[in-house]
Formats: sequence, C-alpha cells, structure tokens
Amino acid sequence: MNFEIKNKDAMGRIGILTTPHGKIRTPALMPVVHPGKQTIDVKEYGAEIVITNAYIMYKNEDLRAKVLEEGVHELIDFPGPIVTDSGSFQLSEYGDIDVNNQEIIEFQALIGTDIGTSLDIPTPPFVKRERAEKELEITIERAIESLEVRGDLMLNSVVQGSTFADLRSKCAETIGAMGFDVYPIGAVVPLMESYRYSELVDVVMASVKNLPDSKPRHLMGAGHPMVFALAVSMGCDLFDSAAYILYAQDDRLMMPTGTFKLANLVEMPCSCPVCINYTPEDLRSMKKNDRMKLIAEHNLHISFAEIRKIKQSIVDGTLMELVEQRCRVHPYLLDALRNLKKYTSLIEEYDPSSKNSAFFYSGPESLARAEIQRHLSRIDRLPKKKNLLLLPRSRKPYSKHIRNDLGKFYTKHIQGDSIVDPDELFNDLQVAVVDVPFAVIPLEIDEVYPLAQNEAPIITDEDSKKFIKEELEKYMNGFDNVVISSKILDRFDMYTIELEPGRDLSENPVRVYSLEEYELDSFKIDLDDREKINCIADYQFGAGSGKALFPGEVKIVKSRKTGKIRHIYEEDVLIATLRATDSVFVLDRDGARRLHSHIDYPEKRVVVNADADPFAREGKSIFAKFVIDCDINIRTNDEVLIVNEKDELLAFGKSILCGHEIMDFNTGQAVKTRKGGI
Ligand code: GUN
Ligand code: ZN
Repeated sequence: MNFEIKNKDAMGRIGILTTPHGKIRTPALMPVVHPGKQTIDVKEYGAEIVITNAYIMYKNEDLRAKVLEEGVHELIDFPGPIVTDSGSFQLSEYGDIDVNNQEIIEFQALIGTDIGTSLDIPTPPFVKRERAEKELEITIERAIESLEVRGDLMLNSVVQGSTFADLRSKCAETIGAMGFDVYPIGAVVPLMESYRYSELVDVVMASVKNLPDSKPRHLMGAGHPMVFALAVSMGCDLFDSAAYILYAQDDRLMMPTGTFKLANLVEMPCSCPVCINYTPEDLRSMKKNDRMKLIAEHNLHISFAEIRKIKQSIVDGTLMELVEQRCRVHPYLLDALRNLKKYTSLIEEYDPSSKNSAFFYSGPESLARAEIQRHLSRIDRLPKKKNLLLLPRSRKPYSKHIRNDLGKFYTKHIQGDSIVDPDELFNDLQVAVVDVPFAVIPLEIDEVYPLAQNEAPIITDEDSKKFIKEELEKYMNGFDNVVISSKILDRFDMYTIELEPGRDLSENPVRVYSLEEYELDSFKIDLDDREKINCIADYQFGAGSGKALFPGEVKIVKSRKTGKIRHIYEEDVLIATLRATDSVFVLDRDGARRLHSHIDYPEKRVVVNADADPFAREGKSIFAKFVIDCDINIRTNDEVLIVNEKDELLAFGKSILCGHEIMDFNTGQAVKTRKGGI
C-alpha cells in the first residue's frame, strides 16, 4: 500500500501517499529542512512531509552521532514522513563527495528515513550526448544497487538524461519497471534558474510519459510557487523547496505571480500573518536574521496556499485554467504553456471526460485543452448525413434558442457549380452551431458536457478564427452540401474555404452556400428526441451505440421543471438516465446489458478476477488490485462495464481512473460501481 489517486484533472492528481510515518495528501510541498541549522518550524506552516539531506548528516561528525542514536525524526523534530536526499546535489555543485552509493543508502536506512535516495548523477541540461549517456548508465547502476541494500527503506529513483528526451524516456522506463516508491525528476534546477520552462516541459513530459502512473513523481528542486500548477498539470505530485529560505536570504518575496524584491515594495504582497503584521519598511529596518526569518515565513505561507489552490482546482476541474493564469506571469512560462500543446493527445488520455466546472476560455492557449481535442475526435461517431447547415452561436443550449436567431436567411452559392433545390438541401440534414472554442457542435449533442458548459469571449481573436476555420473545413468534408450562415463567414473570416486536398469537386461536389439566396423563413429545425438520445449515446459510447441501447419503441420522460430529457424506458424498464448536470448517460441494468452485447471485448470493459467476481455482482466497488484487464481507452469518469474473465457482465459503474492507471495501480479504487446484480 503506497499510493492511490482520489481526484484528477489534466494529468494532475490528488493522491494519498502512505509512508512508515503516516499518510500525506499530494500534491505536496516538502520544505527543505537543514539538519543542523534550521530555525523555522515548518510544521506550523502546513508541511505534512519534509526533505532533508542525508549527506550533510553523514559528513558532520556531531550530527552523524546524534542522528544515528536518536533517528532523523527526533533530530529535525518532525514526526511525519521524511525524505532524504543523498548528496547528489553536492556532487553536482562541488564535483566530488566522500561517500559511495551503498554507504549512503545504508546510512539512510539506519537513521529511519521514510524515503531515501540513491546517489544519482544530476547531469546538467545541454551537455554532450556522450556525457549524458555515460552518467545515466551510472545513475541506473546505482539505482539497481540501492534496491539490493535498501532493507525496509522506501526508495526514490531519480530520472536523469539531461535535455535528451529519449534518454529521459529510456531512464524512466527502465527504473519505472523496477518498483521504486517515488520517482523524482532530477537535474531540472538549472532549467528553472535560467527560466527555460519550455525545455522543462519537454523533460518532464518525456519522463512522466514513461513512468508508472501508480507512483508519485517529485520535481526535484522546484520550489517556486509560480511553476507548481504547470508541473502538477503534467503529472508531478511532489515539490521541494529550499527556495523559501534561499529567496529570503536575498530579501526576495515569492508569489505565485512572480518574485518581489523587498527593496522595491511599498506594500506587502499578500495577506499572510507576516504581510498583515509588518510593512516593507518594518522589514527593511530589521536585523538581517529577523527579517530573513519573516520573509521565509511569508514564502512558506504563499507556497502552501498555492498547493491548496491547486488541489481545489483539481477537484473543481479547473486546473488548466489556473495553469493558463500562472503561465501568463512570465513570457517564458507562456512559452512553456504553448509548448505543452504538443502533448495534448497524451494529456487527453488522463483528463476526466466530465468535470464539475464549466470550461472557461482564457486565450488562444485554451484551444489546446484536452476537452476540445476529445470533442473533435468524437463528432464523427454521430450518424452521417448528406447535408450540413451551419448556424452562428446563440445562447446556450443552442438548440433551445436557435430558432429565434434564424430570422430571415438567404443562401448564396459560393462554391461548386449548381444551386440545389432547397427541398433537397434541407433533407437528410445535420444542423450544427459554429462557436469558439469547440468549433462545431451538432445540435443533438449541444447539452452534453462541455458543449453547453463553457464560456468564451464574444469578440473572436485571430488564433481562434484560424482554429475554427480549419476544424470546420475538416468537418465539412464529410457532407455533400453545406450551407453556412453569413454571420459565421464574417466572424471567422471564412470567405475562402479550403476543402480536403485531392477531393474532386466536379465528381463529388461539396457545395458551400452562404445563407443569402434561399429564404429560410419557413424552415424549422425540429430536433427529434429520439434522434437526440441516439446521437448522445453515439457520442458518448461510440458509433451505433444509440441504436444498440434504444432499438425499439422507447418512452422518454422529461423533467417537469426544466423540460430536459431525463429517463429512457422501454416498456417499463429503465434503460438509461441522462444526468441533469452534464447530459451524459448513466446506464441502468438493461442499458448495460445492451451495451455489453453491442460493443466487442475489451471495449468499455474493466475485467476483474475470480476473487472479485462475487463482490462485483453485489455492486461493491472495484479495487485496482482485482483488475486483470481493461479497455485502455477508458477515461476517468467514463461509464464502464464490469465483466469477468469470460466476459460475463457482472456490474457497471463509473471509472475513477483512466485505462492506463487501472492497469498500473494495485491500490485504491478503480471503478465506483453503480449496480451489480446483472
Ligand atoms: N536535487 C535537485 N536536483 C537533484 C537531482 O537531480 N538529484 C538529486 N538526488 N537531488 C537533487
Ligand atoms: Zn505574505
């Protein structure tokens, strides 16, 4: 029992790490405690776990004798989990140290450390490849040796490899398979000190992508609250801060929005006790040591406040909004955010499919969020139509308000040779709304999360115009005729429309019209409830799922208050319920049975072993350790089928984890079962 996940957003997670000295909640900040000259009691500021340096204790005769006798918890007066570093940092600073790997591991075990560290080599960024490879080999050899001499000690194993993404990945994969307890990502301090946050993103993502999901990751030496949110969104769980004291020694106050020099302050920057009780002038007139202590206290307060804010944002599903805000405090952080776009596909695999909060657009960088990519990859699950009518945004949900917006529409032929008969054009028709940031929203699914649960500015920026235009062009290729409202052409500068290269317009014409020549007064958009539930099911579970779930006559029960679809019955049997908050289907037993016979193994399945079979049938929740296989494409919060090895349906529920995590974890819940008894 080591680590389990409770909540997720993007690649960030709230986890519980169990150590010999208790459990802590991640993301967590571990203040660096000096074993000999610490003056600040970090417990008072919210530290649940700390990190100290084994090499300093080992080298100093007095400290060594003391810590060997009373243990590290007594020595630094901290009752909770203690991580120790090995002296690798001193190695990288001074080039040499007087201890070998085995000695320092054995020493850490003797002093009662909770999580020890082997003597990895922190290869700096941008060195020659040969050096990075050589040093990595030693780092890995020492990691292996540490496993042999660890005893009961929990162990870190540090990912190295300099700025070579493939070396980071290889290292992560190799040590990731060896069963360490925590995986730090090392030698990133020089990147952070020189504001090379974009390279930091590449290093972290190359590492995290290949590390086991079931173990916490520690971004070593990351102590500035400015980078916490970004690092958490990439899957980092632990941070350590010597920065609180180092910055204080330099009269600098940290904030999540940057660093402030005391010399320049006319007002204190936050509302921590230090900032409330002292003015900048008070601090400036103090003795150096007193001042330093107070600034360090401020730095700790603000760092822990940022960690708390991040945890709340994970629960709320607003982590990326926080990341986007934080990455605007420095241009190089903005570079990092823009670079993160490269990894959207990976992040999407971990990002929950439904969240508690609306999607707020904060700028063009928001267009790279997982939710948008997921939506655009799922719209072609809907039944194919011949013709497409694209309408401008109105109030959400669009399907409720679109009619008022139609007004007098005309179509103008702008591409292709002939103008078709309106009766033909408006037959077999897909109606969709075009809007920022989700590009194209087929009306049948416009209430499904996050297509109704999002806000973007009314005034469109250039990046969004380009993005929406490109996505629309891709989508339009699936249709024979397209009619576009001139409002869309205006809003997104779409007067030149490019269709799929190689598509022969004379043979298979996509005829694009703007709504200027045909009068559409008489045209009514009648959304059929039946079609709507089919489309939502297809969008959620895959093409054809609507037909499989609702093959015959159904009874659709709507909410008396909101008029929204709530329950779908066949005869008197409940098949599924459309959840009011996000218009996502929650299955009932019959729905689960139908989906199970419609979708082939292993899709949408979590397979449990024989031990868990009876518990699943009783409707008990599914723990990861009982899972023997699953659909790797399951996303957190997806509705899933729980089956046994013979693919017999036992139960169904909501996945707490994504497919990768379900496979990797052996602790904690994987699926919250809704009902067994199938
Ligand atoms: N502290 C900061 N960076 C590192 C690193 O790469 N390795 C170790 N062991 N400690 C560090
Ligand atoms: Zn303060």
